Amino acid sequence: QAVSLIGVPTDIGAGHRGASMGPEALRVANLMGRLEARGLDVIDRGNLQGPVNPWQPPQDGYRHLPGVVAWNRAVYTAIYTELTAGRLPVMLGGDHCLAIGSITAVARHCREQGKQLRVLWLDAHADFNTAQITPSGNIHGMPVACLCGMGPEELTKLGGSAPATAPEVFRQIGIRSVDEGEKRLVREAKVGIYDMRHIDEVGMKRAMEEALADMDDNTHLHVSFDVDFLDPAIAPGVGTTVRGGPNYREAQLCMEMIADTGRMASLDIVELNPAFDKRNQTARLAVDLVESLFGKSTLMR
Ligand code: ARG
Ligand code: MN
Ligand code: MN
Ligand code: MN
Repeated sequence: QAVSLIGVPTDIGAGHRGASMGPEALRVANLMGRLEARGLDVIDRGNLQGPVNPWQPPQDGYRHLPGVVAWNRAVYTAIYTELTAGRLPVMLGGDHCLAIGSITAVARHCREQGKQLRVLWLDAHADFNTAQITPSGNIHGMPVACLCGMGPEELTKLGGSAPATAPEVFRQIGIRSVDEGEKRLVREAKVGIYDMRHIDEVGMKRAMEEALADMDDNTHLHVSFDVDFLDPAIAPGVGTTVRGGPNYREAQLCMEMIADTGRMASLDIVELNPAFDKRNQTARLAVDLVESLFGKSTLMR
């Protein structure tokens, strides 16, 4: 399997500075070496470039919309290029607004290849805000809505036409923070949400069985891994911590069950914020979990 790492060093869509350092923290934690040790053919494409974070207040409900658009255009092109070359792109964020670009590219690839798309959204947050309901204006709280056609045209039509994809393709795991207006929207749109209460009640195993059900040979599985998915006790290096997330074992099981499907064909690792971390422990944990995503297991399987 050929894997390409693409660094996207920006925090343009976030409410705290620092996710721009995520790509380098993952490299320092030896992401490339660990994947190579799994027998993968890994190329580090280096970092994309884009505007600096101007750190301005929101305008018309969006913070830094022009900058978010510029970065996402670069992501869209880079991810689409890798998919076309038959490689598995790993987008190293950067904040979660960048999933608009990566998933728009993945959706186009799927359309062209006649593939079904399934997106596993591992996150504490639903990221389904719009300009009208956002409490912050931060676009990292809006990517799922944008991908479903709700948002500014510059983002919803990144791939030419909107919507890039539909709520039915998403399965959100680990959700425990949804804003008031957002609750109504995710309900109306029928996004598949496996929130922490559900995981508490049925366990990570059954929740993942449900989220991974009904895939076949023709399914392209995209994993969008927001590191704040993890409990802050094990992953403090993120800007928007929410307590009560999956612990180490639950997170491992989640990753292992994804690997077992053999269908993962693209990945985002986002919201890692070294400015909030201690001795790069969150980056090292993320790398550990990504090894499991790529099939590392305790025993032969
Ligand atoms: N729901 C909050 C907002 O919209 C937080 C979003 C956090 N998103 C993230 N990708 N970390 O401002
Ligand atoms: Mn492909
Ligand atoms: Mn989040
Ligand atoms: Mn997120």
